[in-house]
Order: sequence, then C-alpha cells, then structure tokens
Amino acid sequence: MAGYTPEMAGGGSRGGGHARHPPLSSLIVSTIAAFSAVVVFAILRSAYEDAMSRTTTLLGHNLEPTPWHPFPHDIRRRRPPPRAAFRCAPSLSCLPPPILPPAANATRGRRCPAYFAAIRRDLAPWRRRGGGVTRGMLEAARRRAAMRVAITGGGRRLHVELYYACVQSRALFTAWSILQLMRRYPGRVPDVELMFDCMDRPAINRTEYAGGDGGGGGGGAPPPLFRYCTTRDHFDIPFPDWSFWGWPETNIEPWNEQFRDIKQGAKAMTWQDRVATAYWKGNPDVASPLRVALLSCNDTNMWHAEIMRQNWDEEAKSGYQNSKLSSQCTHRYKIYAEGYAWSVSLKYILSCGSMALIIDPQYEDFFSRGLQPEANFWPVHATGMCESIRDAVEWGEAHPAEAEAVGRRGQLLMQELDMDAVYDYMLHLLTEYARLMRFRPEAAAQEVCEASVLCLADEKQRRFLEASAATPAVSEPCVMPPDDGE
Ligand SMILES: *[C@@H]1O[C@H](CO)[C@@H](O)[C@H](O)[C@H]1NC(C)=O
Ligand SMILES: *[C@@H]1O[C@H](CO)[C@@H](O)[C@H](O)[C@H]1NC(C)=O
Ligand SMILES: *[C@@H]1O[C@H](CO)[C@@H](O)[C@H](O)[C@H]1NC(C)=O
Repeated sequence: MAGYTPEMAGGGSRGGGHARHPPLSSLIVSTIAAFSAVVVFAILRSAYEDAMSRTTTLLGHNLEPTPWHPFPHDIRRRRPPPRAAFRCAPSLSCLPPPILPPAANATRGRRCPAYFAAIRRDLAPWRRRGGGVTRGMLEAARRRAAMRVAITGGGRRLHVELYYACVQSRALFTAWSILQLMRRYPGRVPDVELMFDCMDRPAINRTEYAGGDGGGGGGGAPPPLFRYCTTRDHFDIPFPDWSFWGWPETNIEPWNEQFRDIKQGAKAMTWQDRVATAYWKGNPDVASPLRVALLSCNDTNMWHAEIMRQNWDEEAKSGYQNSKLSSQCTHRYKIYAEGYAWSVSLKYILSCGSMALIIDPQYEDFFSRGLQPEANFWPVHATGMCESIRDAVEWGEAHPAEAEAVGRRGQLLMQELDMDAVYDYMLHLLTEYARLMRFRPEAAAQEVCEASVLCLADEKQRRFLEASAATPAVSEPCVMPPDDGE
C-alpha cells in the first residue's frame, strides 16, 4: 500500500487512448478520475490507519500494561503489524461456530476431587441470600480487570473486551483455555459474562468488602473478579492459570505432557537413589522476601538444603538444557516457596514424588486447596525457615517410609489433576457462576476463536497452543461434591 503513485492510478484509464491524441474532454475526465482515486485512497488509508491504531489484540497491541502491576511492555508490540492485524481480524478468521453434537454421556461421571468444593466457597458472597451477581457488580470489578470475557450463543462463541495488556502471552493462552473448554464440552459451557485480571496478586480485599462477608455489615456483595489465585483475605475467584496450556516464555510445555515427562523422570530415580537434602531451584528476584530469605538456608551440612538460582535469560540462551523439570526429581525433599504471588511451580514440584516442603503459603490457586499438611506435603515455617527445613529433612530421614508416602500422595494429587479435571473445574465454576448472574450476558467488542488466536501467535506459541488442543469429552464431567448448604 505504500507504493502508490498517481501514474499507477491513471494506468487503468489509459486503455483505449493509443491510436490518436486524446481530446481535451477525455484528458479532463482522466485527471478527475486520477484525482478521485487519490482522494479515495487517502480516505481509505486514513480509515485503515485509524482502525490499526485502535486495534487491540490479546498480545497487548495498543494496550498499556495494567496500572496496578506495571511491567516492561515491548514498544514494538504496542501496535500490531498491519498485515497480522488485518489477517487475524476476527471478522476474517472466525467462522460461525460449528454445531457439534453434545459430548457423549456414555460413562457416568466420576466424583470430582474434594477441592472442587472450593468453587462454592469462592462464590459464597454472591450465593448468600440469593443476591447473585448484578451488572453493577461486574462494572465495579472492571476497575481491576484486564479484560471482560463473554461466552454467548449457547456456549459456542467467545468475545473479549481488552482494557490492559497482560504480561507475556497470558491473555492469549487464557483465551485459548476457554476456547478449549468450549471444544471439550460443545454446547455445555454456560453463557456468562465475567471480569478477568491476568496479573498476579488478588485485589478484592475481604476487609474492605466486609458487608458481603456475611458478617452482618449490611453492604452489598463484592465485585466478582476472576484471576489465577486468591488468599483467605480476598474475594478474588481462582481460575486455572495459563501454564496448563503451556508457558512458551520459559519453555514449559502443556501440563499433560509436562506431567508425563516429570513422572517418567521421577520413576528413573528411586527414593534410595535420591539425595537426602531439600532442593529448590528458582528465580529469587521476583520481589519475594521469602525467596530472598531462602538463599540464606543454602547449606547442606547445617540445614540439609540446596538452593539454586534459576536465570531464565541464561536458560533461554542455552536452550533450557539445565531447566528441564523432568531431570529435577533428584532429591528426596523439594522446597516450594511462593514468588510475587502463587507460583506455577507447585504442580511440577509435587509431580516428582519427593516430599514437598511448602513454606507457609499465603496464596491459593484452584487446586492447592487439595493440599493437606503431613498427608501430601510437609509444612515449613517462614519464621525460623532454615531450622524448619532442617527439622523436616531430619524427620524424613528418621521416617523414610512415611516421608516417601507423603511424596507419593503429593504426586497422586497431581496425577488426578489431569486436563480432564482442569476442564471440569472450569466447567463447574462457570456453571455455578452463571446460575448467580442476574443479567443476560452480552457479546463484548471482539470475537475470539481458535483461528484468530493461532493467527496472532508466533511460531513457538503456536506449537504450544496446538499441543494443548482439547478433544471433545467422551464422558460426563465429574460430579460435584454434595453442597454443604453454605
Ligand atoms: C444420555 O443422557 C440422556 C439424558 O440424560 C439420556 O436420555 C440418554 O439415554 C443418555 N445416553 C447414553 C448413551 O447414556
Ligand atoms: C485490606 O484492607 C485493610 C483495610 O484497608 C488493610 O488493613 C489490610 O491490610 C488489607 N488486606 C490485604 C490482604 O491487603
Ligand atoms: C548454594 O550453594 C552451592 C554450593 O555451595 C552453590 O553452587 C550455589 O551457587 C549456591 N546457591 C546460590 C543461590 O548462591
């Protein structure tokens, strides 16, 4: 489009004028035609430029980082490359969704893992007194949301309205996760409208919304905000994080593949063969005082602990050879330390079958509510941390069978957390949330479909996305634990 010249525009009108000198009237007509073409082109181009400068995408084009958690946002990515933006426009890449047959119900659903009960606890503020979720509450949640997500058309269409950029490819992978849920359960995902923040820390403080806490404060229910984690002091609603579908920036594969590899790596190393110390490898530079304090426990003699620094930039340069999770099941004890908030590493640590030493966790993601102290992990205290690690290792060495059993039960928790369970959690959460909605979901600005997500993705992202594609369910979703009537 940059190569436009008036000669080219005039080219079309030259057709019949070879033989004789064109009359003046014809010259005037061609001039007007050429001039009009220039004007039309200029108008089109400016409309196009205008559309491009307003086009937001799941990769964060034309979006500022979230003000509540700023991050370096590649300036080149502020604006989509025009070709990509045009090519990936949902109006071009999203076909009307196919009407697929509903998932077969040949098999009676298994019972959901116990931590699915947390869905009702998370939604309790809106269940109380039948108050539900109103559009006003949703608008209140918008203040802290990176995007509005709408599922319409009988669970077949996904729309997003983007407010802020999310770090890395989180928004892209989260939209993909919802599309895969829709693919797994055709026509069974409820129509919903919800606010989502894809940054780390919870925002809806329980104290500030005490009225909705059932404490008799008399206030309304809190704004409903979905994100990847929550705490006991927040009302944020946890939703599975992007890493289950893959984390290309750290080369972490989709969860089903990653778990299979780690389990295989774990099998290759018996309990007797594993080193009798507590091991941690991670990034201590994530504004986490806990991880900084952990560095001081790096002494195998005094604290039986080995603390290693993971430098993602260097790992990327060396092709991630030293960060393979499947070759990190070499120690009997593996430490889990939260980062800036919850850490996606929890599931990889538990998968090893080593006894997980979990340091006073503050954050909860959807499945960590299945953790039970001394049953499937060993609690370690943040105060007197090194002593606490040492004591845990000494206990384990004195009770090897029990320590191994704790590790095995942790691994079992992860084995049961297969992608079937992840999708079932999403389905049940959205279904329970949809029941509480007191308004009709409306499609948001931008349709998102598999083709538009894949189109936006770079080569590596696309590989991860394709590897994590779901297949339609062949059995019923798991059955929720009975409602305890809260
Ligand atoms: C599936 O469920 C429907 C309604 O619950 C029932 O009518 C149908 O027979 C079931 N099909 C199978 C294969 O179990
Ligand atoms: C919630 O708000 C209260 C009062 O503003 C404050 O004291 C408390 O530290 C906050 N809690 C969290 C977890 O941010
Ligand atoms: C911990 O100690 C080991 C062995 O002395 C060392 O190789 C490693 O770099 C130390 N870790 C950190 C984070 O300094």
